[in-house]
Amino acid sequence: MKKIYYMLATILLLSNFAAKADEGMWIPLLLKKYNYEAMKAKGLKLTPEQLYDVNNSSLKDAIVWFNGGCTGEIISMEGLVLTNHHCGYDAIAANSSPQNNILDSGFWAKNHGQEIPVPGMWVSIVQRIEDISDKVMSELKGVDEKDRAAKIQEVYKKLITEATKGNTYEAQCREMFKGNAYYLFVFQRYNDIRLVGAPPQSIGKFGGETDNWMWPRHTGDFSMFRIYANKENKAAGYAPDNVPYQPKHSLPINIKGYKKGDFAMIYGFPGRTNRYEFSKGVQITTDIIDPAIVALRDVRLNAWKEQMNKDVDIRLKLSSDFASVANYWKYYAGEAEQLKKNKVYDIKIKEELAFAKWAKEKTEYNKLLSDMDSTFAVFKPISLQRIYINEGILAPNISKYVSYATALDETIQKGDAKKIAATREQLKEAIKELPYAPMIAMADKRIFDSILVLYYNNIPKDQQVALMGEIINKYNSSNPREAIRMYTDYVFANSIFSDEALMQAWFNNPRPAALKNDPAYIHVKAFRDHYINTFKPKVDKFNESISALGRIYIKGLMEMNPKRNFYPDANSSVRLTYGTVKPYMKYPLITNLDEVVVKHQKNSGNPEFNVPQRLLDLHKSKTYGHYAMKDGKLPVAFLTDNDITGGNSGSPVIDGEGRIIGLAFDGNWEAMSGNIHFDPANKRTICVDIRYVMFLIDIYGEAPHIVKEMKLVE
Ligand code: ARG
Repeated sequence: MKKIYYMLATILLLSNFAAKADEGMWIPLLLKKYNYEAMKAKGLKLTPEQLYDVNNSSLKDAIVWFNGGCTGEIISMEGLVLTNHHCGYDAIAANSSPQNNILDSGFWAKNHGQEIPVPGMWVSIVQRIEDISDKVMSELKGVDEKDRAAKIQEVYKKLITEATKGNTYEAQCREMFKGNAYYLFVFQRYNDIRLVGAPPQSIGKFGGETDNWMWPRHTGDFSMFRIYANKENKAAGYAPDNVPYQPKHSLPINIKGYKKGDFAMIYGFPGRTNRYEFSKGVQITTDIIDPAIVALRDVRLNAWKEQMNKDVDIRLKLSSDFASVANYWKYYAGEAEQLKKNKVYDIKIKEELAFAKWAKEKTEYNKLLSDMDSTFAVFKPISLQRIYINEGILAPNISKYVSYATALDETIQKGDAKKIAATREQLKEAIKELPYAPMIAMADKRIFDSILVLYYNNIPKDQQVALMGEIINKYNSSNPREAIRMYTDYVFANSIFSDEALMQAWFNNPRPAALKNDPAYIHVKAFRDHYINTFKPKVDKFNESISALGRIYIKGLMEMNPKRNFYPDANSSVRLTYGTVKPYMKYPLITNLDEVVVKHQKNSGNPEFNVPQRLLDLHKSKTYGHYAMKDGKLPVAFLTDNDITGGNSGSPVIDGEGRIIGLAFDGNWEAMSGNIHFDPANKRTICVDIRYVMFLIDIYGEAPHIVKEMKLVE
């Protein structure tokens, strides 16, 4: 194991100039060694130390992990953070009401005092990265596959304790190359984050679900926050007298623009890719898993939409959940479609055939692919189980309330007073996150019912929970659809978790008996136990086997291709990807405000394409300040060929001199297969132009005081 790691280093070293296309999410610590020359060749003007340094300020100090799911960047020496609108969405919606509707109207704080604290929101800044491959792998020698994961956790724990002793940092260890390398990331986390501003969602989410994951695009997808610290500029919990954080670095704003072919890099926290996936994994994804997720999410979206259309308050309460479920509903539909269209299964088969040929005489590798086949063959017939639990049975709010109650009940049974109090506090917060209203409960009932129908129709009969058969027999054995409807009525009429007051009363006085006899509790428990007893051991075994096979496969691929520059899959750790500003097919490189107006007119009556009258007026008078392009038009969005994925949302798009030219906010439809296979011909990053952002703050939002904090390069 140790050997492979050294070998890996040599491989990468040999192939300094081998970078093809602009594929790869690289670890900043290694840029100097493996990528710097290629970056320079593409137009980077900075030194490697300006990209990543531990002792002196560098770009990394302006990049923040935004609340665990997005990226943000610091753009002023007063801790101003820029991210996507869809990353701030939840905070913006949570601070909106029919009376003070900042989601629909937009918001700009006129001074620090007006900035809105967002409890629970945090950002983290990377302090250093360490290669811990040796430390981890030396402990794994002779360890059995089944004990491997536990051993790794044990080593992680030790290293994290060491890294955070005597300081205020947090640390995380991450596996790379499916376990062929390991890295430690040390962070400083900031918990006092306040909302500074956002455009109306008709701008920040312009095009809605229709345009989502598509180019050409016209969305002003940004929002702004500020990091607060204590008077010593140290991270601290929320306090009214905290002050704006003074960062080590902030990104200057390039409003001069860019052109096709210009260097562009994106620094951020990409979530997950699976670029070394096996052919059989691709097949299960396209044929089984993605369509199931789409069908199950459809149910939630339709039921919510029905209620959202009736009432503003309900719309505000459900908007954030709707947007995030819809976002990945479309993602999975697109992934299945594009995996097929881009023939990713065939590509994987070809790669595996080449591997098999190379591995023929090598005992370490020559059984790998047949093992892979048989491992997937066992998993395939039960591959819907986990999806139907997570995206189905547990999706209605009523099931979530039950899960929370179950968690509290289990903690109570253990009798540790401190833990009980802490769990209770946590759950109180979690419950607040699930908006309750009678109309939402109506949607919930429809969701509960439709999901059971899908379960009954799509899960093989011999795999179904016994409760399902009992429901049909009890309520209407000749009409299962009707039986499910009656059962749903029964559950919602009799469960305390379908009624806000009764539910709150239970959490205030959590009596086990009231829980155990509750029909929603009995329902969730039946499905959960069935999954845990019958399928979970098999799913766990599959995951263990397939990750071991994946590890060996990557190790083999590296031996087989000693000149190729390998990069690890995304895993929510900080990465940098570099490339160029680049158009896609026949489409324009940059979209502009004229097109926003045209799109708005063409789709009149469709709320997704509404725009505020003020934007139309500013367009009419061409009041663009110094943010227009040379042709007089106001840029809106543009494309690069950078390699990003979910989690990169909000990441800065940075030019060769370290200045921000835009924010990454999406990928294009034609490359929705990108998490499994990078296709340079199709893959693009969709970015909002920083000049549009500046126009929206400075002129549309009439908040020039915020622009004054920044360093604009004209
Ligand atoms: N597709 C974008 C991403 O995943 C998110 C867009 C959010 N907007 C929406 N219409 N749901 O980064």
